[in-house]
Amino acid sequence: MHTVRTIADVRSMVRLWRGQGERIAFVPTMGNLHAGHVHLVNQAKHRADRVVASIFVNPMQFGENEDFASYPRTLSEDSINLAENGAHLLFLPEAGEIYPRGVADATRVEVPGISDILCGASRPGHFTGVATVVNTLFNIVQPDMALFGKKDYQQLLVIRRMVADLCLPVTVVGVPTVREPDGLAMSSRNSYLTAKERARAPQLYQVLCQARDRIHGGEADYAAIESEAGQALIAAGFQPDYVSVRRAEDLMPASLADRTLVILAAARLGKARLIDNLSIELKNGQQNPIISV
Ligand code: PAJ
Repeated sequence: MHTVRTIADVRSMVRLWRGQGERIAFVPTMGNLHAGHVHLVNQAKHRADRVVASIFVNPMQFGENEDFASYPRTLSEDSINLAENGAHLLFLPEAGEIYPRGVADATRVEVPGISDILCGASRPGHFTGVATVVNTLFNIVQPDMALFGKKDYQQLLVIRRMVADLCLPVTVVGVPTVREPDGLAMSSRNSYLTAKERARAPQLYQVLCQARDRIHGGEADYAAIESEAGQALIAAGFQPDYVSVRRAEDLMPASLADRTLVILAAARLGKARLIDNLSIELKNGQQNPIISV
């Protein structure tokens, strides 16, 4: 695996591969890699000839009171992990390479609407930071495809919309969430949990599973399901930010006519803000007993 720090070095490596007719897949990350990130790299290897990964803890996507300074940085382990898992190129830019005029004065990419709801409502500016850095990284790497985890479902949709609206020539691939054996979605932020909190943390997934099963079972009062799920999280010691049943395609509130849904939640547990979501596919023509009475 080659490790490079400059835009020029990424470009010359990618140009060489492209000249040989090879297809390039890109996996952007903020490091502190776990099995979820490795899964993205493995999927990338299956789909392309070359895998480019980046590690950049992007200051623009962190709010003032968020964890930019304390975000776990484990570069040497990450680098070994990526090399062992077959990444071909690791891009490790300094902030000055990505934001030469500083973060405050950088040109931004805003994806309105979808960036302002759910996680965007509690983290103003977060998705502008994500869209901006991903657009810049796409322009640097110029990959054929880029892989993103469905664990960050709203992020995936923000990026899909940016790519569509700006006609970026990149195929966005969404990859299923990798979980710990007890169901907790893998996340770099799980390391903020104390042992006691870690033991409780899988209840976020369990509460989402129960809500999903109720909807699959025909319950249609989504507001009641959301509120009971929120109560269950509070009883388990979380401070929920939201639990919401949405349309999977655009995260608008789900109506009873919608068949492809996603239930998403964000909740604080101690110092960690955990997010998770589950897809819900209702069968076409499935009669909902509550609507039919
Ligand atoms: P980061 O949190 O490091 O995640 C990098 C990629 O790994 C994202 O696409 C994320 O959805 C995916 N991922 C994280 N946990 C996962 C899991 N348990 N299963 C599957 N995929 C998982 O997301 C970011 O970084 C940043 O916002 C970034 C896109 C790099 C822009 O700065």
